[in-house]
Amino acid sequence: MDRIRIRGGNRLKGEIPISGAKNSALKLMAASLLTDQPVTLRNMPRLADIEAMADLLMQFGVTLNIRRGAGLGQSDTMRLHAATIESAVAPYDIVRKMRASFQVLGPLLARHGTAKISLPGGCAIGARPVDFHIKGFEALGAKIDLVDGYVIASAKDGLIGTMIDLPFASVGATENLMTGAVLARGRTVLKNTAREPETEDLGRCLIAMGAKISGLGTSEITIDGVERLSGVDYTVMPDRIETGTYAIATAMAGGEVELLGARAESNTVLYGLLRGIGTEVTQTNRGIAIHRNGVRPNSVDVTTDVFPSFPTDLQAQFMALMAISDGTSHITETIFENRFMHVPELARMGANIRVEGDLATVIGVERLKGAPVMATDLRASVSLVLAGLVAEGETIVNRVYHLDRGFERLEEKLSSVGADIERLST
Ligand code: EPZ
Repeated sequence: MDRIRIRGGNRLKGEIPISGAKNSALKLMAASLLTDQPVTLRNMPRLADIEAMADLLMQFGVTLNIRRGAGLGQSDTMRLHAATIESAVAPYDIVRKMRASFQVLGPLLARHGTAKISLPGGCAIGARPVDFHIKGFEALGAKIDLVDGYVIASAKDGLIGTMIDLPFASVGATENLMTGAVLARGRTVLKNTAREPETEDLGRCLIAMGAKISGLGTSEITIDGVERLSGVDYTVMPDRIETGTYAIATAMAGGEVELLGARAESNTVLYGLLRGIGTEVTQTNRGIAIHRNGVRPNSVDVTTDVFPSFPTDLQAQFMALMAISDGTSHITETIFENRFMHVPELARMGANIRVEGDLATVIGVERLKGAPVMATDLRASVSLVLAGLVAEGETIVNRVYHLDRGFERLEEKLSSVGADIERLST
């Protein structure tokens, strides 16, 4: 099993190309099921989760071709063609490994009229139920049975538009219901919807396919169902979590890094916090530049919440930064109930962090120390890589498959800006 070895202490200097957003690309791939015409997706990240979604779609009968980009910064282009849907079953073995598989429910129900999708079950960061999705599809007229751990859904005469008020602005539920409603009869009004940029990206692609959607990026999305959607040629937005991760890495290690293709508006809160603790963040004509001298950052409190607030997917990375701050920081996690699994591992590197419920109190230390560590999800894993960049000595991050799910060529990108990092294959 691969591991990553980091020797801490190097400043970072240079440029890092930002990949396409995983959490947009996965949903765009699922949306290809909505049309019998080819869908071309550009700026696709090369990740294990993308491969898992490709395998799932091929089981449904989707033909898939990939044109590989060559070097760093040259992304893949994927062509998906769901001419006919031969099967609409998403088995447990795939959904269990990648929860985003559940996002095929909306497109399959809308286009095919039936779907049998395994319930995802809990995962390392929380229980993560799908009740909002299921209640929403029932409201859209689908008949849903739960049998042997599977959701068996049917809407033989099509989905029917209605008003759905989500109990929480869930990203997955908003997107699943949106991809169902685009082919429903009549108007659907989704209230308390997710405003995440990836949700907007999906909506924009659906509009380019001929869907009638208004209110993207707000808490109320209106969808007027159309009879059919066409193919599309669409470019995936840059990954704001990858961007934020490298911005935090630069703030920790010191130096000057330009994040190519990054968009300022996707990470406004993070950049405000970084500036507040003495990091320069500037927009350039190629992306965002991060500059910091070696001085220890001050501490600052942060609370995760739905967009546009601070994202839960950057909480672990920000905690690594606060672990070396000059002061005490309070980090509150409001989205997932169990997303502090990186704390004991950071503690093995010398961090001083106390967790009570949804609150982590981080007392900054002057220096972290390298250690063998491992984590249970991809954002937690990358926080350990960031800690390794500034730790004294050698850090070995185990369970690299978590990183490969969501960070394209992480070690290549970081070593290209001067980090001492390499993958050890065993
Ligand atoms: C998406 O997950 C992302 N995943 C997550 O990124 C991200 O952390 C999360 O949104 C929040 O931003 C993908 O896009 C593939 P939610 P999702 O539905 O859609 C509860 C990463 O590291 N809830 O907004 O599953 C749920 O348990 C991943 O890339 C219900 O109770 O998130 C959670 O506490 C991790 N019932 C909260 O809502 C439901 O039916 C937010 O979940 C649905 C959700």
